[in-house]
Amino acid sequence: MKRDLIVANWKMFLGDETSQSYLASIKPLLAGLHSDVWFSVPYTVLSSSAALLPSQIGAQNAHWETEGAFTGEISAPMLKAAGATFSLCGHSERRQLFGESPASAAKRAGAILGANLRCIFCVGETFEQYEQGNTFKALEAQLTPLFDLLKGESFRNELIFAYEPVWAIGTNKVPSLDEISKSHTFIKNLAQSKRNINPRVLYGGSVNTQNFAAIRNLKEVDGALVGRASLDPQQFIALVGSL
Ligand code: PGA
Repeated sequence: MKRDLIVANWKMFLGDETSQSYLASIKPLLAGLHSDVWFSVPYTVLSSSAALLPSQIGAQNAHWETEGAFTGEISAPMLKAAGATFSLCGHSERRQLFGESPASAAKRAGAILGANLRCIFCVGETFEQYEQGNTFKALEAQLTPLFDLLKGESFRNELIFAYEPVWAIGTNKVPSLDEISKSHTFIKNLAQSKRNINPRVLYGGSVNTQNFAAIRNLKEVDGALVGRASLDPQQFIALVGSL
């Protein structure tokens, strides 16, 4: 069985002492799994979380500069200093709610990789784009600035993608298995042709214990990015173990 990567995206939850009891309770259960399990946590609990699980804690975004007058932002080297080993970037909530553009998401990804962190770059189409049959076009528009920006980079630090249709996040709607396969193949082929890399591509959007076994069985799927179903440790461990 392939070893997949399952990433919990805590979003703006679990930012207090509950993060410690969550991670302490789940830590002994992680050892025997066939998956790598990472946690994308709020900035304020990065250090305390990394003290418990040093190689599996990451952030949810990073600024493209290393420091400067950018009130409310945090840089990739700061995340690294706090104990992060990776960061998400370009999540659709950033794009939809905070006006992040494909160009700025790409710059953030470049900074994350440049700080020796792994980067999970999130892409996905809106419902309108999906309905109009423009999924691949939307993915390409989000990916092209990243591939252009990373020209000449050595990719020492792993670039991972998360395919997350905007309309599937937090909605209990999920694309068909065939649609997931096709979008993952599209991302992998584009990465191969533009940058000659063969990245892992995770699926995200309403992953739960009922639907995950079938999704993770797809050969183009290398794991998952999980929001709501990651907030309860018991539910999350059941999901990770669902085969
Ligand atoms: P969801 O969120 O699992 O709650 O749909 C996924 C995500 O936003 O990464």
